[in-house]
Amino acid sequence: MDIVIENIGQLLTLDKKGPVKGSEMNDLSLLENAAIGIKNGKIEWIGTADEATNIKANSTIDAKGRLVTPGLVEPHTHLVFGGSREQEMALKQQDVPYLEILKQGGGILSTVNATKKASYDELLEKALFHLDRMAAYGITTVEAKSGYGLDKETELKQLKVAKEAGEKHPLDIVSTFLGAHAIPPKYKADPEGFLDLMAELFDEIKAENLAEFVDIFTETGVFSIEQSRHYLQKAKDKGFGVKIHADEIDPLGGTELAVELGAISGDHLAVTSDEGIKQLAASDTIGVILPGTSFYLGKDTYSRAREMIDAGAAIAISTDFNPGSSVTENLQLIMSIAALKLKLSPEEIWHAVTVNAAHAIGRGDQAGSIAVGRNADIVIWDAPNYMYIPYHYGVNHVNTVIKNGSVLFE
Ligand code: NIG
Ligand code: FE
Repeated sequence: MDIVIENIGQLLTLDKKGPVKGSEMNDLSLLENAAIGIKNGKIEWIGTADEATNIKANSTIDAKGRLVTPGLVEPHTHLVFGGSREQEMALKQQDVPYLEILKQGGGILSTVNATKKASYDELLEKALFHLDRMAAYGITTVEAKSGYGLDKETELKQLKVAKEAGEKHPLDIVSTFLGAHAIPPKYKADPEGFLDLMAELFDEIKAENLAEFVDIFTETGVFSIEQSRHYLQKAKDKGFGVKIHADEIDPLGGTELAVELGAISGDHLAVTSDEGIKQLAASDTIGVILPGTSFYLGKDTYSRAREMIDAGAAIAISTDFNPGSSVTENLQLIMSIAALKLKLSPEEIWHAVTVNAAHAIGRGDQAGSIAVGRNADIVIWDAPNYMYIPYHYGVNHVNTVIKNGSVLFE
């Protein structure tokens, strides 16, 4: 064995055939007094602390009775962007709505300008910085969207940066093309023309393996349900999986559209209708809920994730890390917000940031669980049990992060 982690107080394996739906999200697979053997970057053996004493290893890590879980999976980020938008904080305090800031050419469009200006190397360096921080918070797999180019050249620049970041950084990156993130001023009167332009990139993105998924912001003043359906259908025809920024601010029916199109995930779902909840629960689409965004946009209402799970849906949770609507890499903080504002149980929350998050980005067979044969993506926490993480909020509980069998932090 290369490494044996011994003396694990509580081991959450989350070794489930996912996505895990509805009430099953409360059934944790949990071992006490366990140990894990790692070889060639994979999990080779799982057993009891007693059995571990007979196993030869090049190195041992004493977990000292702590909690051990799979590395967290972050299924929705806008990782690659130029600049920052701290000046928008004052507008938020004056209750200027998010969509109004966008309408005035700020918000997403201000980050688009900064991203166009930034060089490839600057964007890469910044993405690697944010990935380091995510890793420090216990995240070992990250989805990354483009969407701050809104022209062919800059969208491709973002996607290439994400690809190189994934090659350079130990964390795994799953890429999503979000060219349909906003309407650039030039196309204000012709959103369909802009979507056609973005769809012209599909072949090149596929050929160069720059993204697995295509996403769109379906929202008032951005793209309508009909425009989104047409665009995503084209993406599906080209062999992409699809995702939707759905029902984030206005309830347009993006959740229902995600189900209709067989999207791998519908994301946000902050104002999903009763009918949308029903359809989501009966579907294979995973609801990726972003409660940090509701918090950061100063909303009083949060996604009805509680009702979604009670109706039988599979839910994942994410930071939505981006420079406008949720400026944090701290998924542990989002776990606390999910407990307090979505009223999810700790068991549901752990499924939502591991196995279900992995399924929401097509990595259900590699990430999000601790099982023999899987990548050794493992976190040792400075916590006695799994309930402790959402409970003690706003700080980083990570003790040790192991990615593909290599210790990143300890
Ligand atoms: O998921 N809603 C659209 N996109 C992002 C925000 C992007 C930004 O404000 O820069 C989101 O909330
Ligand atoms: Fe987003």
